[in-house]
Amino acid sequence: MAEPTPQNWTRVDEYLTRTLIPEDAALEAALAAQRAAGMPEIQVSPLGGKLLNLLVRMSGARRVLEIGTLGGYSTIWMARGLPEGGLVVTIEAEPAHAAVARRSIDAAGLGERVEIRIGRGERVLPELAGGEPFDLVFVDADKESNALYLDWAARLGHPGTVVVVDNIGRGGDVADPGSHAHGVQGTRAGLAVLGGDPRFDATALQTVGVKDWDGVAIALVT
Ligand code: DHB
Ligand code: MG
Repeated sequence: MAEPTPQNWTRVDEYLTRTLIPEDAALEAALAAQRAAGMPEIQVSPLGGKLLNLLVRMSGARRVLEIGTLGGYSTIWMARGLPEGGLVVTIEAEPAHAAVARRSIDAAGLGERVEIRIGRGERVLPELAGGEPFDLVFVDADKESNALYLDWAARLGHPGTVVVVDNIGRGGDVADPGSHAHGVQGTRAGLAVLGGDPRFDATALQTVGVKDWDGVAIALVT
């Protein structure tokens, strides 16, 4: 058996990506633009992007909310899963990142399906209240605010809304009693909401791969 080392699990991720995910010019261009702009390369992996795309399609989501656009890589994956007339509303705190994402999303031919809201989630999310509810929410922004983002996911969703939270493993820090970093505490607070708030029914899976040891939580709004 291969040893479970970062090198070996990266090799498996690359094998799975090669086997399951065709090369894709628009996604490659989005990553190149993000890199050229000096943005952090912390987007979801290709396999993670495909998971989001499949969840959008499996749930029949027409309205998707993303918290944390970065360069639009995950946004493109999700927008492609929408039916005609569907929409992704994606929130990005950093205007320069939003500008890069806008160009990449437009270049991918998805401009009409994606609305980017610039600002911090805590300011933008209340502005979305009173609109049509969202069918799927992807939480992938500052981890400190995960509990707040999940509260909004429940408020802006409906029974049956799918909620996905990225980065719930954090290299094992999430269960390390010695780790008190704000991001880790925020991740724990978010998981406590998913486990304790009756508005959610949730699970979480650890992952290893090109993004090292991390994980994803998946929930339904009840
Ligand atoms: C970080 C954020 C992410 O959303 C991610 O997927 C990986 C890393 C970070 O802030 O370091
Ligand atoms: Mg992430």
